[in-house]
Amino acid sequence: MQDHLPISVTRVAHSRIGEVDFNHLPFGVEFTDHIFTADYKNGSWHDFRIEPLKPLSVHPGNMAWHYGQAIFEGMKAVLNPQGEPLLFRPDKHIERLNNSALRMSMPPFPKEFFIQGLKMFVELEKHWIPKGEDSALYLRPLMIATDTHVGVRPSQTYKLIVMALPVGPYYSKPLNVLVQTKYIRAVEGGVGYAKTAGNYGAAMYPTRLAKEKGYDQIVWMEPKEFRYVQEAGTMNIFFRLKDRIVTPMLTGAILPGITRDSIIHVLRDMGHTVIEQKVDINELLAAYKRGELIEAFGSGTAAMVANIYNMRFEDFDMRFDESNWELSLELKRAITNIRNGKTEDKWGWTMSTTGALEAVVASNIQ
Ligand SMILES: Cc1ncc(COP(=O)(O)O)c(C=O)c1O
Repeated sequence: MQDHLPISVTRVAHSRIGEVDFNHLPFGVEFTDHIFTADYKNGSWHDFRIEPLKPLSVHPGNMAWHYGQAIFEGMKAVLNPQGEPLLFRPDKHIERLNNSALRMSMPPFPKEFFIQGLKMFVELEKHWIPKGEDSALYLRPLMIATDTHVGVRPSQTYKLIVMALPVGPYYSKPLNVLVQTKYIRAVEGGVGYAKTAGNYGAAMYPTRLAKEKGYDQIVWMEPKEFRYVQEAGTMNIFFRLKDRIVTPMLTGAILPGITRDSIIHVLRDMGHTVIEQKVDINELLAAYKRGELIEAFGSGTAAMVANIYNMRFEDFDMRFDESNWELSLELKRAITNIRNGKTEDKWGWTMSTTGALEAVVASNIQ
């Protein structure tokens, strides 16, 4: 393998950073100065580069818009107590991106370029990483088809773009969730495990209906019998019973959350029994009525751990008493501290970006 990968860097002439109010960073609004990008044509990825962010000029016949070849990731970079940027589990994110790519008949992106490009990109944008507790630089890798063509077939050209957005603390207020018994998100054999744009578009209407009734998110159910829990909105879901924690097993219809995987490791390390299984809503309800279902929480990159205070199933409200939310809060602290470099990273999940620019492209920074 070559000792450095050919990723070029072109800097903006003037940074926008001075125009941004770092005390007010609503999610998804502010973008940094640059992107990491590459193009796919003639059967391989080319032109790996970090360059100024600018709008794309796209033909209306772009295939991504018509036929849905669009996949993405969501991850965060933070500063450790020494002020070094840390990525969290980038290897798992590129693995998931490439699993999504395969399902959508899109080309895999080379892992070593993804990791190296991300390290260089975050190192270049490190002044944009908000310093506050729970703040982060949100990274949004996106892969889209770019052929101009009408007619259903896979595109022959693609673009990968990684954007970065400084985000403030994600206020994870406890959630009121509705077990959905009419609409479905995904079915085994479909694309539920892929982080593909259409999954989110399909969820919008039922989510809007639930919001109109005062719920924050939907708990999606396995479609045949509406009996087994899948996930909640844009989070995976966990239930603490008296002697164990259960979470829906990955059937192919559920997004394999990287926070979910991290939580399972951390809980087992704390000595808890975690079981990945088919989670039957009737059994949950029965356990709740016996007083054995104690906590319910969602997991995801945005909030890490989000408590559920009410889960509505048909005409019954399962209410979860805040005084019992010990485990979820301890878990959130534990996992946030690993991500922020404040406690031992025994699984090697964090990756520092320090030195990534100097070592690799000293020669081609413009
Ligand atoms: C549908 C869905 N489920 C679960 C998750 C949680 O995944 P992760 O922990 O990798 O953020 C997300 C967020 O990416 C999601 O969009």
